[in-house]
Amino acid sequence: MARVTLRKLVKNYEETPAVRGIDLDIADKEFVVLVGPSGCGKSTTLRMIAGLEDITGGEVLIGDEVVNDMPPKDRDIAMVFQNYALYPHMTVYENMSFGLRLKKVDKAEIAKRVENAARILDISELLQRKPKQLSGGQRQRVAMGRAIVRDPKVFLFDEPLSNLDAKLRVQMRTEIKKVHQKVRTTTVYVTHDQVEAMTLADRVVVMNGGVIEQVGTPNDLYHFPATRFVAGFIGSPAMNFIPCRLEVAGGGLAARLSPEIAFPVPHAREARYRPYLDSGNLLFGLRPEHIVEQRPHAESDQHAFEVPLEVTEPMGMETLVYFEIGGVEVCGRVNPNAGAQSGHRMKLVADLANMHLIDAASGKVL
Ligand SMILES: Nc1ncnc2c1ncn2[C@@H]1O[C@H](COP(=O)(O)OP(=O)(O)OP(=O)(O)O)[C@@H](O)[C@H]1O
Ligand SMILES: [Mg+2]
Repeated sequence: MARVTLRKLVKNYEETPAVRGIDLDIADKEFVVLVGPSGCGKSTTLRMIAGLEDITGGEVLIGDEVVNDMPPKDRDIAMVFQNYALYPHMTVYENMSFGLRLKKVDKAEIAKRVENAARILDISELLQRKPKQLSGGQRQRVAMGRAIVRDPKVFLFDEPLSNLDAKLRVQMRTEIKKVHQKVRTTTVYVTHDQVEAMTLADRVVVMNGGVIEQVGTPNDLYHFPATRFVAGFIGSPAMNFIPCRLEVAGGGLAARLSPEIAFPVPHAREARYRPYLDSGNLLFGLRPEHIVEQRPHAESDQHAFEVPLEVTEPMGMETLVYFEIGGVEVCGRVNPNAGAQSGHRMKLVADLANMHLIDAASGKVL
């Protein structure tokens, strides 16, 4: 097993920059997920680690060794792709052992490793089947099995679950997490799905336009996003962003969102936000889960307000409510029994302990 280090990593395709200088330290045994919108450079970064793509600038290290010029087969990595590319004419056993047979590993050792991987992945019963006799999820496990038997220093995954239907994707996500807990191989995993990123990762790397926006644990990114992009990308439904002004109110500060609605700023934030009192280009950010139905006992930093609901969406365990503040559509998440109805007014509370203030020009969370 090994650390992976990226130093000022750059990739240009002809004139087009795909990766614009990435620095990242991935610890031994760590599970790191690269996430971001389509075209942000995730696969390109992964392929440079794998050695499948020439590096335009910077360095990739595996362990302590710079591997920029090392061919993929010498890097001791195993990659699992979106299309698992199993050999159709080989059995599961043959597919999983193929790489080891090429390396002339002895037969008893191969059998031991394949059986062990099959046990970890719960596919021991399937070893004599051909790929066409397997379900999508089973094929995915075989592809992972093929990577595990090689006992590489690093696993690389590029959207390995995106061919599966939604339910199976959730199941396999849990399986991948279990496998990592057993084998603890350093893993770099690429997805555009923020839920997959949050649920799998020790640390999430949010990429945008070829650069890293933020690196952190799932909880860090959720609670302390550094930029508007990260704040809006992590979490579903997405964080609400409403243009606002700061004003002095009742001895403290308030965020004025519309002529009717101003939310008091928690005292703990006042010193931090006071320099922006005259700023004309601020966004107030609050996640839907921090706007709920009014409850009998308000806590400090919870502020009640009343709005007409435009749309309600029952989800079963909760109901999403949509309304307008200052011309912007805002989403809240209320208890299904709270009586939310489209076209009716509803008393809601905003939990301002979880508010964010964003400089709209720079996109930085203040
Ligand atoms: N072989 C190539 N030649 C030219 N440009 C490329 C090539 N491969 C990728 N690109 C460009 O580099 C950028 C990054 O591509 P990359 O495949 O890394 O994105 P990604 O984050 O993996 O996106 P997705 O989620 O869609 O897979 C994109 O703008 C893409 O068009
Ligand atoms: Mg990709």
